Amino acid sequence: MLITGQKDSPFSFKLSQEQSLIESTVREISEKEFAPKAAQIDREHRFPRENWDILVQLGLVGLPFPEEYGGAGLDHICYAIAVEELAIACATTAVMYSAHVSLCATPIHLFGSKEQKERLLKPLCTGQKMGAFALSEPGSGSDSAAATCTATLKGNEFILNGVKNWITNGAQADYYLVIAQSNPILKHKGLIAIIVEKDSPGFSFGKLEDKLGIKGSSTCQIIFENTPVPKENMLGNIGDGFKVAMVTLDGGRIGIGAQAVGIAQGAWNHALSYARQREAFGHRVCDFEAIRLMFADMQTEIDAARLLTYHASLVQDKGLQFTKEAATAKLYASEVAMRSTVKCVQIFGGYGYVTDYPAERYMRDAKITEIYEGTSEIQRLVIANQLLKGN
Ligand code: CAA
Repeated sequence: MLITGQKDSPFSFKLSQEQSLIESTVREISEKEFAPKAAQIDREHRFPRENWDILVQLGLVGLPFPEEYGGAGLDHICYAIAVEELAIACATTAVMYSAHVSLCATPIHLFGSKEQKERLLKPLCTGQKMGAFALSEPGSGSDSAAATCTATLKGNEFILNGVKNWITNGAQADYYLVIAQSNPILKHKGLIAIIVEKDSPGFSFGKLEDKLGIKGSSTCQIIFENTPVPKENMLGNIGDGFKVAMVTLDGGRIGIGAQAVGIAQGAWNHALSYARQREAFGHRVCDFEAIRLMFADMQTEIDAARLLTYHASLVQDKGLQFTKEAATAKLYASEVAMRSTVKCVQIFGGYGYVTDYPAERYMRDAKITEIYEGTSEIQRLVIANQLLKGN
């Protein structure tokens, strides 16, 4: 969207044919199917399973994974575009999708053996299974290494005990990538990453969270009480869990950046339609300079945020470390989403404050992008650590 460059430049920002096709396909389906229901999903706190089914039918749930595992083999800019387009229409649908792709399927693709990819990644790519990620706990969010959920090796199984918090797709997923502690003395070097299946014995759900925004998204605690999980479901080795979590979050943060761009753009689009038809003092609201400047400021920031998410995706696709780029994109895009959606509410005036119009929903949805998958404070820490490495 909106990015055009010199036609034959090797460093053109023009979207490729595939990227443009993803943009138009996801936009079309989002406008037709997801946007009209977004307010109702929010009001009823209803998980839109039918939206997932449409994403599966379109072949989007395996978008960045190789075709041999049932994926579409597309790049991560395509993925960022898909998340943004979903979020323009419905932020709940965007996070359902990004948690599945970034937080569950991606680590299996990156750290799984061939056998694990055949067994676990394939059904995620084809949409037979939905994925989730379980890192945070009631007593540890930003400090991931402090996880206390235990994984005790007994024969060929790990026995899991503990509680995980804030699980996106929580009550709806089939596979959960769980980070658990195999040996507390080793701190982060004792953590493992293991795939737990929904119907495992001793696996249950806590309460569904009643959230400020993304209300249709299923967020709940998951509880393990002597839950046996086959050792063959562990990604990598004992002690790899922290690295798996951090690398997973690097990718996830691009998804949240793209979600934030979409929320900001969606609110902007609605605010413009409103400002074009609403009149005050004998003029359309969009003709007042104060309002025009707001639109210009917002779109400038949204475009910059979009470029940061594309840039992070590009670095990811080149196979380079993209920790800093992902954190930068998420930090900037989420703060832009918050600033823009507050301005959009202001443009709607009183109508921005009531649920008859979508502005307040975008503002509520924007807030979480500054919190999940690492707060803005954590993103600043990650960026500073990367910039000052070795100093
Ligand atoms: N890639 C690879 N390795 C990494 C890494 C990365 N991005 N970041 C750290 N590591 C490695 C380090 O190299 C180091 O390795 P060694 O021990 O071999 O030297 C090890 O991990 C420990 O690194 P740190 O000392 O930097 O770790 P730390 O304990 O100080 O924590 C942190 C760093 C950045 C604060 C990290 O804990 C973090 O990102 N916290 C935020 C967690 C987060 O985003 N939580 C959200 C959960 S998901 C969610 O929101 C729910 C949902 O469903 C959407």
